[in-house]
Amino acid sequence: MTGEVLTLQVGHCGNQMGKHFWSKILNEHGINKDGSSKIDNEDLASAREDDPSVFLRQIETNKYTPRAILFDMEPSSINDTQNTLPGLFDERNVWISKDSLGAGNVWADGYDYGTQHIEEMINMIDKELDSTDNFEGFQLLHSVAGGTGSGLGSQLLEMLSDRYYKKLTTTYSVFPSTESDVVVQPYNTILTLRRLIENSDACIVFDNNSLMNLSSCVFRNSNTSFNDANQLIASVMSATTNSLRFPSYMYSSLSSIFSTIIPSPNLHFLVPSFTPFTTDFIPEAKNFKRKNSYDVILDLFDSKNSMFSGAQTPLFFEQQQASYIAVWDSLQGNVDQSECMRALLKAQQRVNYVPWGSKTINLNIGKKSQYNKGGNSDCVTGLMLANSTGIKPIFTQTCKNFDALFKRNAFVTKFENGKLFEDGFDEFKISREIVEDVIQEYTLCDNTSYLDDILLGDEDDMMVGIHEGMQI
Ligand code: GTP
Ligand code: MG
Repeated sequence: MTGEVLTLQVGHCGNQMGKHFWSKILNEHGINKDGSSKIDNEDLASAREDDPSVFLRQIETNKYTPRAILFDMEPSSINDTQNTLPGLFDERNVWISKDSLGAGNVWADGYDYGTQHIEEMINMIDKELDSTDNFEGFQLLHSVAGGTGSGLGSQLLEMLSDRYYKKLTTTYSVFPSTESDVVVQPYNTILTLRRLIENSDACIVFDNNSLMNLSSCVFRNSNTSFNDANQLIASVMSATTNSLRFPSYMYSSLSSIFSTIIPSPNLHFLVPSFTPFTTDFIPEAKNFKRKNSYDVILDLFDSKNSMFSGAQTPLFFEQQQASYIAVWDSLQGNVDQSECMRALLKAQQRVNYVPWGSKTINLNIGKKSQYNKGGNSDCVTGLMLANSTGIKPIFTQTCKNFDALFKRNAFVTKFENGKLFEDGFDEFKISREIVEDVIQEYTLCDNTSYLDDILLGDEDDMMVGIHEGMQI
């Protein structure tokens, strides 16, 4: 049996991402918005080919509720989620701070509020875990730049790695766009990045610039909204977990996917690409182009389809020169295996890999939902999760933005009441150094001796690459 995954959605962005994710999951498993099953007949329900239990707890014969806990410091995003999906969420799994003021974009406020209420949160998590048989791990949804998703999210990440250290923690983390109006975003981002580095096992990263650019193509509308961007994120989340929910013999756990593409503990930032957005993924998608398996695999390497491309950052050119460390593709629809083999060979010739890498593209052939017959269920769609040095310029840019503020002590007073800042601002410096160390490790990846320098010295911590599925 596939292990269960508990979703923790934190702050405005996290809960909005969750809203779209759950709508999609329900749709793919033949479940109505209120959690009732569309399949009335009990025998049919027990003969399901899909496994909704990974993300949903069955509460009655034909009724489900998400294995999810909704956290926010003000009620608007959670209220909106509950209004969109009325009666779906278990009320005991909703946590809204009593004063309902939000963290005002200050990481320290979210973090400290989390510290004060951590026992309540642990109780909620433990209660939800009581209903699992084979719990695999957590997925945390948040933005790194506000106060709650970043600060309270950081507190949760520290707690999870301390208390449930044997379980996998994945994050879906949204980085801010370059035209942000929140001045302390670089501080929030650096402080959160430290926790993503130290306290999570795999981070699937998005940036709002790339999401907005891609949304305007998918929806054929230059005025795209977060609502559109969140549908792209939900498509990535659904495709990443397809092989868990529609099990076959490959990639039936998150750890089997991530151990294939994460060679060392620090290099766990994965960039998603997706193409094409067919109407079974996004019903309002406009005029998408039908592609065969060959084109899908090659187009996934095109930065236009990437959701963390940093296209607006001055260092974008450097990003284009990136080396791939490892790649995992998941295709769905009428996939042609010989076209896949041809495309994988082609990609291997075109793409720049780190010198010590296996030049492998791991391929999963997923299944489309049998309940989602409308749309374009025969059409081939693809997701790529790439572990590449292309992540470095965005981290470097974040550090530069941080340095520009910090060298002038700009706005640090917003943090001075925070418990971690009682004795000064060392927390900023330490977090900055930890991010810098990861940037350096990505730089070292371009050396042939990377494995000797880094991996062999730290063998015990390694995730051993499990090679499953079709590779080339
Ligand atoms: P506070 O409101 O400060 O307590 O924290 P919060 O975690 O609720 O903040 P929020 O999630 O609004 O984080 C702000 C950052 O997230 C900014 O960079 C926004 O651009 C981005 N953001 C907010 N909502 C969304 C959303 O629904 N989708 C996407 N993609 N980004 C969002
Ligand atoms: Mg908020």
